[in-house]
Amino acid sequence: MLDLIIKNGTVVSPEMSTQTDVGIKDGKVVMLGDAGDMPEATRVIDAQGKYVLPGGIDTHTHFNNPPFMGIESKADFYVGSKATAIGGTTTIIDFAIQGHYDTTLPMEVLERRIDLAQRSVIDFGFHSVITNPTAEAIKQMKEIINFGAPSFKCFMTYRKDGIMADDAALYESFLQTKEHGGIFGAHTENDALTVHNIEKALNEGHHEPIWHAKTKNSLIEAESINRALFFAESVGAAFYDFHMSCLEGVKMVKKARAKGQPIYAETTTHYLTVTDEKLKGSDGINYICSPPLRTREHVESLWTGINDGVVHTVGSDDCSFSTKQKTVGGTSFEKVPNGMPGAEFRMAMVFNEGVSKGRININKYVAITSTNAAKILGLYPKKGIIAVGSDADVVIIDPDLEKEITIKGSNLDGVDWTPFEGTKVLGWPIMTISKGKVIAEKGQFTGCRGTGEFLKRKLHPDINSKIIL
Ligand code: URP
Ligand code: ZN
Repeated sequence: MLDLIIKNGTVVSPEMSTQTDVGIKDGKVVMLGDAGDMPEATRVIDAQGKYVLPGGIDTHTHFNNPPFMGIESKADFYVGSKATAIGGTTTIIDFAIQGHYDTTLPMEVLERRIDLAQRSVIDFGFHSVITNPTAEAIKQMKEIINFGAPSFKCFMTYRKDGIMADDAALYESFLQTKEHGGIFGAHTENDALTVHNIEKALNEGHHEPIWHAKTKNSLIEAESINRALFFAESVGAAFYDFHMSCLEGVKMVKKARAKGQPIYAETTTHYLTVTDEKLKGSDGINYICSPPLRTREHVESLWTGINDGVVHTVGSDDCSFSTKQKTVGGTSFEKVPNGMPGAEFRMAMVFNEGVSKGRININKYVAITSTNAAKILGLYPKKGIIAVGSDADVVIIDPDLEKEITIKGSNLDGVDWTPFEGTKVLGWPIMTISKGKVIAEKGQFTGCRGTGEFLKRKLHPDINSKIIL
C-alpha cells in the first residue's frame, strides 16, 4: 500500500518533461510509471493538465533575523516557513549570522539558529556568516563544514553596522573552504564607495528612496564581484555570488566560467521582476533592499544569464519588515533597514515572469527554483529531483490558474505589504507535498508546526576544483 499517488501530471526535471505517475511511501518517492501498475494508495491526486515539480528550494531567507540595521525581521521560522510552503517551496536555506561585534563563535551561532528553526514547517539548512573573523572563528569553518553547513556568506559592506568582512577575512575564508570542501560566497557591494556616495548625496540634500539605488549603483556591486572573483581565482576556490542584481555581474561570471572558474550566481525574485521605478512611488521606502532594485536593462540581463547558464539559483532574500519597521529609524534612505518579504510568492512570480511570459521553459524553471540549488549546495539527490529514492518533496503547479497577488491574500502574518502587490500571476502552486505529506492545498496550510528538519549538507567533492553545473 502506498501513501500517495500523483497521477496524470507532467513530471519535470531540468533535462526533461515526462508524462508519468509518482508513487510515494514513507516520505520518499518509491515508484515512477503507470499508476495502474502501482499498489493502491491512501490518497490519489489527479494532476491532469498540471506540472509536477520538485519542491522549491529557497537559497536565501532571513527568518527570525537578528537585528539588522537595528531592526529584527518580522517573519519568524513558523510564520515565514508556513507562507513559504503555501507558495510551493519545501526547503529553505537561512543564515546563521554572528551579530554586531559578536564574540559568540560561529558554531554556537549555528547551533542556536538550528534550535530556533525547530518550529519550521519545512526542511531547512543554514549558510554561516562570520562577521567577527578572529583566528578562532575562521578556524571553526572546518568544523562547520563537517557538521553539515558547508556554505558561507560574508558581507563585503555594512562596515558601520559592524558586520563587514574585510579583504583579509575574505582571502582567509576562501583558503578554508577550498581546504575543507566548503563553498564561500558573498554579499558583493563595495563599502568605501557606498559610504562616499551616501555622504555626498546627503550633503547635497538628497533623502528620497531612489537615492538608495543611485548611491549603490551597479558599479558598487560590480567592483565587489570582481574582487571576490579575483580572490577565488588566486586561491583556486569556488565562489557563490549571493543575490546578484546587475548586468556587469552577469558578464563577469560568464567570463570567469569560460576560463573554467567554478563560479555560481544566485539572483532573487525581486531582481527578476521589479525595477527601481518602485523606489519612486509613495511607498518607495518599503522597496529599499541591497543591492538595490535596478533598471529594466539589468532585469533582462539576469533572465539572459539564466538561459545562458550563468545565473543558477533564485532565492527570495526574504527579510521582511513591516511598513512601520521600515521607518522606525527615520525616513532618509540610508536609515531604512534593507530587505523585503518574498519567499511566499517566489515560485509563482518566477513562473509568471519566466514560464508564462515565455522567457524560460519549464525545465529551466525547475533548474533555477530547485535542482541547481540542490546540486550546488549539497542536497542532491535527496532534494531537487523527483526520482526513486528522493524525498517526496513536490509542488504541483496549475499553469492556467490566474490570480492577482494582494497583501490581503498573503500568509505572512504581521507583514502589511508585498513588493508584488497587484501583479496578475498566471500559473500558481496549488499543492505542496513535503516528505510525502500534503502540507498546503489551494492556498491553505494543512501541515504542522515543527515538521521541518535540519538538513546536513555535503557538497560535491570537486566543488572547488571544477564547474559542476
Ligand atoms: O537588503 C537585504 N538584502 N537585506 C537582507 C540582508 C542581506 O543582505 O541579505
Ligand atoms: Zn545580502
